[in-house]
Amino acid sequence: MMASNIFWEFGGDFPWPQPLEISALMPPFGRGSYFRKGVFFGTGRAAMLGLLEHGRATRGWRRLWTPSYFCPRVMDTIEQAGWNCPRYVDTPLSGPAGLPTHLEPGDVVLRMNFFGWRGAEAISWAAHLDCDVIEDHSHDPSGPWAIGSRAAYCVASLRKTLPLPDGGWLWSPSAQELPIPGEATDLHLRAAGLKIAGMTLKQHYRAGVPFPQKVFRELLVRGEALLGTGSPGGMHPLASTMLQLLCPLALAERRRKNFTALFEHAPLLKQHSPVDGLPPGCTPFALVLVFESTTLRDRVRAALIEQRLYPSLIWSLPQSQNPQTVDFGNRSLTLPIHFQYSESDVAQAAHTLRTVLNGVEAGGKFHRLERNAVAPSGENRDFYKGELVQRGQTLV
Ligand SMILES: Cc1ncc(COP(=O)(O)O)c(C=O)c1O
Repeated sequence: MMASNIFWEFGGDFPWPQPLEISALMPPFGRGSYFRKGVFFGTGRAAMLGLLEHGRATRGWRRLWTPSYFCPRVMDTIEQAGWNCPRYVDTPLSGPAGLPTHLEPGDVVLRMNFFGWRGAEAISWAAHLDCDVIEDHSHDPSGPWAIGSRAAYCVASLRKTLPLPDGGWLWSPSAQELPIPGEATDLHLRAAGLKIAGMTLKQHYRAGVPFPQKVFRELLVRGEALLGTGSPGGMHPLASTMLQLLCPLALAERRRKNFTALFEHAPLLKQHSPVDGLPPGCTPFALVLVFESTTLRDRVRAALIEQRLYPSLIWSLPQSQNPQTVDFGNRSLTLPIHFQYSESDVAQAAHTLRTVLNGVEAGGKFHRLERNAVAPSGENRDFYKGELVQRGQTLV
């Protein structure tokens, strides 16, 4: 029987960390800040837009190739800023990663480490591309790919893995010139302020201060909707101060621990997890579950929400995208596994997941996807073939 606490919930945004929690999230004594390199914009989108304008002016960039599986809100922002963004097929299940096949002068390629599932092996996959590469490490900013990257530029939306209201990190592993972010705009300060208020109230709620969940939820939703809507600028000063105290390696360790514990408490999750085992040193961003159909996914999601587990959908993509890509987004859900969850929180979440999955399984079968299920197409096939042979895999 699990302990019942009416203020218990699992998922959604980070709460603001309690003062006593922060010391465990800091770099080891004497190491200094992890975030000594690069520049910091207000959001990941601001970092990308700032970089793209810099690339247009100084490197002749004209077109941004983007993975078919990518955050639609980011794509809208970039396209509304006037960028032509052809897609190449790359999904969390593509292994090795998909890449564009026909590059032209002025092309730049965006790559993504989906859910932190790609490790150091991903570094060389794009080595043959004769153009600048930007990598998005929002899901594991201190993973082996991010640390060993040789790309022209890397970006990360910081609030995806760090308990911060805002922030977009831009750095250059190959020491290219970086654009300098301006001050945070008034609009951005307002957006981040709403998020800080929501995160703080969520922390209070979790500690048992009795007000309705909707109070902090509304603040978080309003802040999130406003973030990234104005012109690119810097971070909120409270967030940039906090950032210097946080160590992404410490946060990654907590995610790994919670991920392992979830599977120990609920081995049934393995049947619904699209990957078994990650490359060395990788940290999963979240628990990702894939179902046989969207209907089944939605039933699980509704049942989890009823039990106060709040999954995210990453991402619902426009139907115009490559069908395999859209399909993954439509049949999956993710559950955060961040630092704030205690062993008993994780045990309770696992108990609920077990109950819900057992319940819905009775009404419809789950479907386990194979990694590498998405076949590369076009000219890249030969390249992939070579890579796959080296990895002891076959091309479907
Ligand atoms: C993978 C990824 N990269 C970048 C971004 C953009 O980050 P931000 O919301 O901080 O602008 C997002 C956003 O939502 C994202 O999911």
